[in-house]
Amino acid sequence: MYSEKVMDHFNNPRNVGEIENASGVGTVGNAKCGDIMRIYLDIDDNQIIRDCKFKTFGCGAAVATSSMATELVKGKSIKEAMEVTNKAVMEALDGLPPVKVHCSLLAEEAIHAALWDYAEKNHITIEGLSKPKSDIHEGEEAEEEEY
Ligand code: FES
Repeated sequence: MYSEKVMDHFNNPRNVGEIENASGVGTVGNAKCGDIMRIYLDIDDNQIIRDCKFKTFGCGAAVATSSMATELVKGKSIKEAMEVTNKAVMEALDGLPPVKVHCSLLAEEAIHAALWDYAEKNHITIEGLSKPKSDIHEGEEAEEEEY
């Protein structure tokens, strides 16, 4: 059912954790299943993503897609990171079962929400980026400890 790459990223997820004083943080919820994803970005003065970490209260496909997404945006410019769509992440993982495609949206949306946070903090506009619909702000989550 799952590709070897999906199983690898599920069993050994990369970049799990938090970044203190992150340049941008995005937290999103999946409307379909209620799962939650948070992404932290560390962006340098040249708008290169130095580091990226994630935490999720989500399913295995959400873990695998987030792990791959963080790997794909690390070291990239903001512009390049905008091209890391859920489709690109799924391709990099050799696909997901159709019923799990919605899970891959969490990572893309969380990256966009984190970039939006960064843009707002720095008073800049990122081409092609629109305000995240499902951004969850601090204090709105149910139980932080459940992550
Ligand atoms: Fe919720 Fe996969 S079932 S993210």
